[in-house]
Amino acid sequence: MGHPVLRQVADPVQDPTAPQVHALIRNMIETMQDADGAGLAAPQVHVPRRVVIFHVPEERAGDTEESAPTPLTVLINPEIEPLTEEKELGWEGCLSVPGLIGAVPRFTKIRYSGLAPDGSRVERVAEDFHARVVQHECDHLDGTLYPQRMTDMSLLIFQEELRHGSPEPMREPTEEETEPV
Ligand code: NI
Repeated sequence: MGHPVLRQVADPVQDPTAPQVHALIRNMIETMQDADGAGLAAPQVHVPRRVVIFHVPEERAGDTEESAPTPLTVLINPEIEPLTEEKELGWEGCLSVPGLIGAVPRFTKIRYSGLAPDGSRVERVAEDFHARVVQHECDHLDGTLYPQRMTDMSLLIFQEELRHGSPEPMREPTEEETEPV
């Protein structure tokens, strides 16, 4: 947090199939897996391009098709359209904001689209955590970190404070919910 690349608007990718784009994606996947995270955006590896990766693990999935477990997805030049006005608070961490977690309001249902690494078009409807992780990662492409989305800064806490109990009115985050994204 504070690095200039995390504050700037990332540039669109011209050719999703270019070797340097695929090298970037491999680097991002490795970084995300090393950190045991649920998602990552290219600016987090200091590359100002519009590329995000994410997955929805079993333990973060919901009961609907739109919130179901989702395998590793690479999205190039992504776009998001909210499908509801409803927002929900949920805990988020971020590899670029280490040691902290915060309760962030996000749209509960979105449609997102973008390009896959082979240049084909991806379009999906997402709910709950699936919608949350995509909104979090796409925010990185516009220079926005999750604390800037928060409406109650008393819910920005050190992860290690969780052992003292969670701040009201939210329940204590589970271990999975504190995975960085
Ligand atoms: Ni993040």
